Amino acid sequence: MPTFVFEGELFWGGDRIGLLRERLDLTGTKKGCDRGQCGACTVLVNGQRINSCLALAISHDGAEVLTIEGVARGDQLHPVQAAFIAHDGLQCGFCTPGQIMSAIGLIHEGQAGNDPERVREGMSGNLCRCGAYAGITDAVLEATNNLAQSDQRRSA
Ligand code: FES
Ligand code: FES
Repeated sequence: MPTFVFEGELFWGGDRIGLLRERLDLTGTKKGCDRGQCGACTVLVNGQRINSCLALAISHDGAEVLTIEGVARGDQLHPVQAAFIAHDGLQCGFCTPGQIMSAIGLIHEGQAGNDPERVREGMSGNLCRCGAYAGITDAVLEATNNLAQSDQRRSA
């Protein structure tokens, strides 16, 4: 049987990665379109962004899956979460877990830089019906900057 690595623990895999919500009760990951078009279901699998609504759990046997529930460290928000709050990168919040996971993935890919256009392009798979795009872009830019600075401090 396939195994599914989640936050360092093993779970039996189901037929869809949607088991996050339905069987593991990790409801932070949202189901929007259920057809790979909105990005609400974005999670990181081995550090890469995927639309979990299209992913078969069996295809990710043994992979490490990070959802929004695993992003903060206790009371300490992840810098991307903090930046979304600081820049009002949300309204209703439905798309926000997917936006944040996608932003973390984008920053990790090193594709964002300081260019708002590249951030918009990199985040274009994540739709926001509330139109909070300006705040989302600003949040990703700030988080990219903050994370780069903390990396520099660590390596100094
Ligand atoms: Fe997966 Fe929309 S719910 S992309
Ligand atoms: Fe409402 Fe994005 S904040 S859909």
